[in-house]
Amino acid sequence: MSTPIDSGAVAAAVVGGAPYLQLIGGEWCPATGGASFPVDNPATGALLAEVPDGGVADARAAVAAAAAALPAWAATPAPQRAALLRRVAALLLERQERLATIMTLEQGKPLAESRGEIAYAASFFVWFAGEAERIYGQTIPASAANKRILVLRQPVGVVALITPWNFPAAMLARKLAPALAAGCTAICKPAEQTPLSALELGRLCVEAGAPPGVVNILTCQDPIPFSDTIFADQRVRKVSFTGSTEVGRLLIQRSAATVKRLSLELGGNAPFLVFDDADLGAAVAGAMASKFRNAGQTCVCANRIFVQRGIYERFAQDFAAQARGLAVGNGLEAEVNVGPLIDAAAMAKVQRHVGEATAGGAQVLVGGAASPLGGRFWTPTVLTNVDATMLVAREETFGPVAPLIPFDREEDALRMANATNYGLAAYFYTRDVGRVFRVAEGLEYGIIGANDGSPSTAQAPFGGLKQSGLGREGGSHGIDEYLEVKYISLGL
Ligand code: SIN
Repeated sequence: MSTPIDSGAVAAAVVGGAPYLQLIGGEWCPATGGASFPVDNPATGALLAEVPDGGVADARAAVAAAAAALPAWAATPAPQRAALLRRVAALLLERQERLATIMTLEQGKPLAESRGEIAYAASFFVWFAGEAERIYGQTIPASAANKRILVLRQPVGVVALITPWNFPAAMLARKLAPALAAGCTAICKPAEQTPLSALELGRLCVEAGAPPGVVNILTCQDPIPFSDTIFADQRVRKVSFTGSTEVGRLLIQRSAATVKRLSLELGGNAPFLVFDDADLGAAVAGAMASKFRNAGQTCVCANRIFVQRGIYERFAQDFAAQARGLAVGNGLEAEVNVGPLIDAAAMAKVQRHVGEATAGGAQVLVGGAASPLGGRFWTPTVLTNVDATMLVAREETFGPVAPLIPFDREEDALRMANATNYGLAAYFYTRDVGRVFRVAEGLEYGIIGANDGSPSTAQAPFGGLKQSGLGREGGSHGIDEYLEVKYISLGL
């Protein structure tokens, strides 16, 4: 048994010292009025840092700074914008260990996952550095001999980027990198649970040479004054948000007043289909990776695992054995695979979902309860005898809970998989090439993992159908979200 990590000492070493401040117009500043709020460590509940509790005045100052910086940044030649992005990526990788430790302290995920997330964040800066250099226009044959039609792609303008707590560096990188690549200036608002990773990324942007006002980072406990200010201001031309579908619906309403563009990465309810002809070992490994990464707190994680009857028992036994072997604990400890949930509300939701399922007849193969460690730790859980009416099958649990549901025919699996208003990610395992195409085409989801439990990557368009969102992040599509199309009709 290894010696338990002293999280307090680690925290003092990496986040102690200089206080965290907001980044507005190139200056590090406290909130107007001086208020602050605490950020805690979900593994221990201990205070990690105080950060400024920004309000309306801070949001207005950030919009003014971003608007003032816009003309020069939009006019900066693309290779120079790309070079800045590459420097940010290099700094992320150079400081990977420190940044990963801060992420684990504020978010809870195992250190190995935090290291992976820093590399994932850096990959968006690298990818969009390349995209910055490929913002091509068009010429279109005109209908009159004395005319020429030219199409330009120009930055949208000032953008507001609102990011979640589950991937505090990567989700910001996935928005900020294309925004900067396109020539936009940004006001970033990280989730109140995990602002430190965003402030650290802001520091790297400044160090890499981002001019004042190009990247602004605001922290606040109550997002309402921030969003009221952002949505009322005509200078903010776009909002990109990752979070719940409930909040996404509100933002759609709010955007009407000033007709802002929106990109929304919202909730999911991912189905994971395992067919009789699947490679069982690969399917179990894919389900483990998809389900238990970040303690099940990802929008793309397998929420419902449908297994064809012929392979059901073997899959359930192998998957349960691996889930039983997961080590739960403080993510700073090397052997830990599953960290804490983010807060008490997350624990209560998991408790409610598992409680309702077991009361309705679901059987617990593994786990089924909070961890004996106490606090915000939940034991990885595998449930069988689940039916489609249960909360675990209808709603995103956002925790380490895997409900298994048998099916008989391909068409039954597709019908059950699509029976949801969400459409972010779906997965399936089969060795039948015809089925690969039939099922991939039949699933009403924006991201399909076909024999792949970890499809997220900077090169591919990430986003959902139905109530899982609008727009795409990553890939060559990701930069389009930050570009306007303008055409010039030129008379000769
Ligand atoms: C998410 O949970 O929204 C993002 C996960 C990912 O990028 O893989």
